[in-house]
Amino acid sequence: MANTPDTEHFWMPFTANRQFKSRPRMLVSASGMHYTTDDGRKILDGTAGLWCVNAGHGHPKIVEAIQKQAATMDYGPLFQMGHPLVFEAASALVSIAPEGLNRVFFCNDGSEAVDSALKIALAYHRMRGDGLRTRLIGRERGYHGVGFGGIAVGGIAGNRKHFGPTLPGVDHLRHPLDIARNAFTRGLPEHGAEIADELEQRLLALHDPATVAAVIVEPMQGSTGVILPPKGYLQKLRAICDKYGILLIFDEVITGFGRLGTAFAADYFGVVPDMIVCAKGLTNAAVPMGAVIVRQEIHDAFMQAAPENAIEFFHGYTYSGHPLASAAAIAAIKVYKEEGLFDRAAAMAPYFEDAAHSLKGLPYVKDVRNLGLVCGIELEGIPGKPTARAFDVFLKCFWDKNVLIRTTGDIIALSPPLIIDKAQIDQLFGTIAEVLKAQKAVPASEAAVV
Ligand SMILES: Cc1ncc(COP(=O)(O)O)c(C=O)c1O
Repeated sequence: MANTPDTEHFWMPFTANRQFKSRPRMLVSASGMHYTTDDGRKILDGTAGLWCVNAGHGHPKIVEAIQKQAATMDYGPLFQMGHPLVFEAASALVSIAPEGLNRVFFCNDGSEAVDSALKIALAYHRMRGDGLRTRLIGRERGYHGVGFGGIAVGGIAGNRKHFGPTLPGVDHLRHPLDIARNAFTRGLPEHGAEIADELEQRLLALHDPATVAAVIVEPMQGSTGVILPPKGYLQKLRAICDKYGILLIFDEVITGFGRLGTAFAADYFGVVPDMIVCAKGLTNAAVPMGAVIVRQEIHDAFMQAAPENAIEFFHGYTYSGHPLASAAAIAAIKVYKEEGLFDRAAAMAPYFEDAAHSLKGLPYVKDVRNLGLVCGIELEGIPGKPTARAFDVFLKCFWDKNVLIRTTGDIIALSPPLIIDKAQIDQLFGTIAEVLKAQKAVPASEAAVV
C-alpha cells in the first residue's frame, strides 16, 4: 500500500495542482528505462523524465561520480576561485560540440542558460562598439524556459500572458508548423522553408537589421509539441544572420546530447550557430546544470574589451559549475561516448519512426511528426475542452498501462531514453494505440486546462 505524504505544502510547477493532489502520481525510484511508483508498479519511461535522462535512469558511472565528489568537496565558489572539475567539464563538453564553439559558460538549468546567452549576445555587440544592436528575435510557440528573457523571446502564450511586459525590443518569427501541407511527414517537412525568409523580408525590414543582436530558435521545437524545421529552413536563418552580422543562438536544451542521433542538432542539420544553449542531458539530469557553448571569437571579444585584471562579464550564479554537477557532466559525456548512445539513437530512429507512423488512421490522430528519438502525435481536441483528450490518454497510459508519456495541449510528445530497445518501442506505441482505440468522451473532472 502506498505511503502517500501530505501533499498540501508543495506548490507544483507546471501542474494542475488540485487535479494532481486528488490522485497523486508518485514516482519513488528509477532504473534504466523504468520508474517505480509508490504502489510498486514499474512504469516504462517514454519521456526520459522531461527529455533529459538520455542515458537511462541511475547510470552507475554517473551515480558513482556524484557520490565520490560529494564526499570529496561539496561546494567550491567559482567567483575568483576555481576547482579542477569545472574546467574538465567544460573541456568534455567542447569535445562533443561543433567545431569553433569552444568556450563554455555554466549555469544551473535551461532557463538560466537562455538568459545567459541573451546577455552574452547583447554585451558582445556593445563591447565591440555596436551598442545599437539591442533587439532579440525569437519565434512563436518557442520555449526558452521561464526567466524573463526566456519568456520574452519565447512564444508560448500561456507562459507569457500573466507576467506583464517582459523585455522591450523583442519580435518573433512565425513558427513553421503547417499540418495542412505536411501532415504525417516522416522526418523533416518538405514545405515551409520560405517562412525563414520572413526574418529578412518582414522583421529586419521593419526593425532595421543594424538594431538586431540575436535570433534564438530551438532547431526542433520540443515543448510546444514537436515542430520540425522544414528542409532548408535553418540554413536560410543562418545565411540571413550572417548577411547582417546577427548572432544565431540554437536552444538545444532538448535536442542536445543525442536526441536526434547526433551530439547536437547543429550536427544533424549541418548548421552551426554562434552559441548553443544546453542543459538536461548535460548531466543526464542527475544534477541540475545548464551551459552556453560559445564561439571563441565571442568570448575573445570580452577578453579584449575589458581592462587588464578586470571582470570581463558581470554575470554568474552561486552554483555555476557546481562540483557535483561538473562531476555528473564529465561522467555523463563519458558514458555517451563509451556506450555510443548518440549512434544508438540514430540506429533506432527508423524503427521508432515506423512505430510512430503506425498510429496514422487511429481515432483522433491528426498528425504524427518524428525525428531521431522524438515524436509528436497531434490529436483532435474535444470541442470546448482543449487539452482534455491528450490528458486523458496520458492518465490512462499511466494508471492502466504503466507507461509514462507527456502531453502539451492536445499533443503527445515522446522522447524516451536513448537506450530504449525495439520491444520497448513496441510497448510504448502499442499502448498509445490501445488507449486511442478506446477513447471516448472524457469526463469533465479529468480535464485539465493547461
Ligand atoms: C528548448 C528549451 N529551452 C529551455 C528550457 C528550460 O529549461 P529548464 O526547465 O531547465 O529551465 C527547456 C525546458 O524544457 C527547453 O525545452
